Amino acid sequence: MKLAVIYDSKTGNTKMAAEWIVEGMTEVTDIEAKAFDIHDIDEQFIQESKGVVIGSPSYVALMTPDIHSFIMGNGGKLGFGGKLGGAFATEQYTHGGGDTVIQSILTMEMVNGMMCYSGGNSCGKPCIHLGPVAVNDNIEKHNGMDKYKDNFVIYGHRFAQKVIEIF
Ligand SMILES: Cc1cc2nc3c(=O)[nH]c(=O)nc-3n(C[C@H](O)[C@H](O)[C@H](O)COP(=O)(O)O)c2cc1C
Repeated sequence: MKLAVIYDSKTGNTKMAAEWIVEGMTEVTDIEAKAFDIHDIDEQFIQESKGVVIGSPSYVALMTPDIHSFIMGNGGKLGFGGKLGGAFATEQYTHGGGDTVIQSILTMEMVNGMMCYSGGNSCGKPCIHLGPVAVNDNIEKHNGMDKYKDNFVIYGHRFAQKVIEIF
């Protein structure tokens, strides 16, 4: 079963996070998962995917304009309706808007007819509330991408398990 992780990334953090999610997904038997930059997608693979997870850096606590345009312009063509949807974000500051980014991506996914899943409380700890967020290493000494890797891998694993269960 195919799963797609789609991201926008200018300096590599969100790309790295997408690859961690793919790593977790492919731990699950019968899953073929791939990550795609929104500017270089495999349309057929995404159309055939039962689940799509979309990630964005926080830009003034919002998704990037490119991710917004991508979902608006391609949700129908890529057959988002009926797929399982998820979202993730990276940011520079602990309170830099990652959850807001995720929530707005999930909203756009639902408008496209997707079923949205985060795992949340149902999966126990780590309790990933809306989707995983990583704070990068640029500013805060106590933060850094690597500190968040496990959450992204676990999220990918849980998302893939749910797709197998549903489909
Ligand atoms: C135009 C712009 C706006 C940004 N706004 C925020 C913000 O509101 N909050 C935040 O924490 N980080 C902000 N950042 C930092 C990015 O979210 C952060 O560096 C992210 O990890 C970059 O992802 P990328 O490496 O995948 O491009 C902003 C970056 C840019 C370029």
